[in-house]
Amino acid sequence: MTTPFPHEPGTATGPVPPPQCPAHVMGTGPGGLRRLYGPEAEADPAGLYEKLRAEHGTVAPVLMHGDVPAWLVLGHSENLHMTRTPSQFSRDSRRWRALQDGSVAPDHPLAPVFTWQPVCSFAEGATHERLRGAVTDSMARIDTRGVRRHINRYSNRLVNDFCKEGRADLVSQFAERLPMMVMCAIIGMPEEYNDRLVQAARDMTRGSETAVASNAYVIGALDRLVQRRRAAPGEDFATWLVEHPAGLTDKEVSEHLRVVLIVAYETTTNLIANVLRMVLTDPRFRARLSGGHMTVPEAVEQTLWDEPPFTSILGRWAVGDTELGGQQIKAGDALIVGIAPANTDPVVRPDLNASMEGNRAHMAFSSGPHECPGQDIGRAIADVGVDALLMRLPDLELSVDESRLSWVGNFVSRHLVDLPVSFAPSPEQEIDAEPLPAVARARSQSDWEVASPALPAPAAQAPAGHAPAAGPSAEPQAAPAVVPAQRSRPPKLWQAVVRWWNGH
Ligand code: HEM
Repeated sequence: MTTPFPHEPGTATGPVPPPQCPAHVMGTGPGGLRRLYGPEAEADPAGLYEKLRAEHGTVAPVLMHGDVPAWLVLGHSENLHMTRTPSQFSRDSRRWRALQDGSVAPDHPLAPVFTWQPVCSFAEGATHERLRGAVTDSMARIDTRGVRRHINRYSNRLVNDFCKEGRADLVSQFAERLPMMVMCAIIGMPEEYNDRLVQAARDMTRGSETAVASNAYVIGALDRLVQRRRAAPGEDFATWLVEHPAGLTDKEVSEHLRVVLIVAYETTTNLIANVLRMVLTDPRFRARLSGGHMTVPEAVEQTLWDEPPFTSILGRWAVGDTELGGQQIKAGDALIVGIAPANTDPVVRPDLNASMEGNRAHMAFSSGPHECPGQDIGRAIADVGVDALLMRLPDLELSVDESRLSWVGNFVSRHLVDLPVSFAPSPEQEIDAEPLPAVARARSQSDWEVASPALPAPAAQAPAGHAPAAGPSAEPQAAPAVVPAQRSRPPKLWQAVVRWWNGH
């Protein structure tokens, strides 16, 4: 096959419909290629992936916003190959031919995603190793147990804000707030920044009118944090980046803090919202959870398969002419890591309704040298947060019809707009007033591992609205048996074998 881009964006043959014309946003564009944007694509992304798979196989030519062409990689093994072969498929967006010839404008709607920055996400080779090494070494110093305590306590604090009301929006009052609280504690940002940072990160990830100002606010706050840590080191991620032997400049440190903060916020918010939506709308899911047939971490893992927080990553850029999935890719072509389509590839998942328990081979965290280094933190926030919420409010019910739920976003990331719930009002719980423990790792620390505690059978459940208090400094292990009842976690050796088997 030849390159699928017979036209240049904006210079398609034939008359170009005016922007208000419905043809402009219909499912196909110049060259008959399918659009990854517009009402049709947004209404049914899964249906679109299946059409593309049927028409083109595992790698499909598509159009992004503005009818900018790219390759969407749909196959699981093709995505693995692409992400694990940086010599052919680079993360450096400056290779993009469309950028070099000016056919993609700098104010393109996806510019925040593809505009090159001097951070590990866009770096390759020795530069990538240096920058990513500083990030991963600093992450390795985090006290995983201390952070789990933070997550549990912050979750309970958030529930206290609405538990007496009997109703809440779990997106704006829980899923969006918890990851930022935890990440601020990890990086060393004072708590009073939490709310403003949530607002700023929200603006930036939704591309709203104030996104540029919000970005400037985040950069300013992080620059000041770096200066403070140069002058007075603390026990936090910002200090460890500053002190790392790779010798990052102040700008490199604050840029990496920004990447970590925004990526962690966006993905973990989506993950928590998606898990909660699944729990509230899929009766089988809920029955398995409350019947003790599924743990919260297993529910999180299933969600990472079915509703990955990043649905795609734009992406990779071809270093030279090459072949992928039977398609001829030209040097400088853009490729999209198709996370959601890879997770539903019939080769790895012939039956989409079958449980994926124990299988972590999904693409939610990508793969290869850029595979997400924060995945254990993201999983921990979702696991502990959802567990704590369900413990406190076991009778949660969706308070609108499921069909009223809506999403905003694009093919890279979709955000649930809100998740209105009702429950029996319950009293606030006392939360330990002592300062939260430092996030630095003690020497004899175990690795990241979040598994719900083994709890007695469902018969031990308290009646709805009468959840016993978890106690002042409750950790997930100490939480009472309410809902969901959980199974004990598999032994560590077995987990290690499963991880090895899954290629992690
Ligand atoms: C459930 C939550 C999360 C998901 C689904 C997720 C997913 C991803 C994905 C798909 C990538 C892109 C990899 C690529 O380009 O191929 C990525 C990169 C990255 N993520 Fe995460 N992430 C999550 C949480 C986090 C957290 C909590 C942190 C920080 C504490 C983090 C830090 C990063 C960084 C620094 C990169 C860039 C790595 C590199 O390019 O070398 N992520 N993540």
